Amino acid sequence: MNPVNKVLSLFGVRLSRVNKTFKQMSKEEKEFKEKYEHYFKLAENNKRGFKTIKTYRYQVGEHPSSTKDLEFEFVAHYLYKSKPANILDIGSYRHFILGLLAHYNVTTVDIRGRKSILENENVVTCNAKALEFSDNSFDTVVSLECLPHLGLLRYGDDFDLDADIKAFKEMIRVLKPGGLLIFSTAITGGEPCIVFNARRNYSYKMIRDFCHDLDYVEEKFINRRDACHCLLDEITTDPNFFDYYIGCWRKRQVKEIE
Ligand SMILES: C[S@@+](CC[C@H](N)C(=O)[O-])C[C@H]1O[C@@H](n2cnc3c(N)ncnc32)[C@H](O)[C@@H]1O
Repeated sequence: MNPVNKVLSLFGVRLSRVNKTFKQMSKEEKEFKEKYEHYFKLAENNKRGFKTIKTYRYQVGEHPSSTKDLEFEFVAHYLYKSKPANILDIGSYRHFILGLLAHYNVTTVDIRGRKSILENENVVTCNAKALEFSDNSFDTVVSLECLPHLGLLRYGDDFDLDADIKAFKEMIRVLKPGGLLIFSTAITGGEPCIVFNARRNYSYKMIRDFCHDLDYVEEKFINRRDACHCLLDEITTDPNFFDYYIGCWRKRQVKEIE
């Protein structure tokens, strides 16, 4: 608890985050605030033995959706359709991986160590550019927002400007023919750049070049500012900014590759 609130809570008061004046509130929120004050008094007289602390919150309306929701939704769609027996995840959001583990066997790779109590998670701490798995081992490979960081030191790996290319080749190598590779990365409509050492902002052509030996299934572009899908030509060209690319690609069957 914030030290100031620690003291104030002794007097049953608490500083709340919302410091909008009543005048600044929307009509809807004004009505809500009046309702709040009324029910606060009722809550104060509760017979449940609760002490009542005033902490005003107004979160009525559409449930907010984030860029991560759009990424996770895209992956969930393809996992639900393909029902893989085993998944390899490379560096994605732990929250999402933990959700996957409610249903799937997942091998997780990250350069940073992490603990897991889940028997169906195989935790592997290694560099994505040199995976310790045999060829054609996984039904599906997922990697959300890891590619742009590889080889840039930020997360403790060694400096290697081609680590992303090596890792992408490794993802394809360990994927079974016919399997899906689903990945997201930073994209720019302007000049591709290394924002050292935060990430790489790829051009669309660079991303497509990664996928040269794969079959296209679907791709989407996500506007980070508005957390919504956008078209390729609506991708930011602002050098200080980037948007997201997410794509689903299929590894060709052996005979198709020859
Ligand atoms: C933007 S973060 C993705 C989200 C992050 N896993 C989380 O749960 O918040 C990029 C992830 O890639 C991992 N990573 C960076 N370089 C790596 C490498 N060379 N090999 C494997 N993982 C790497 C980082 O440790 C980090 O977890």
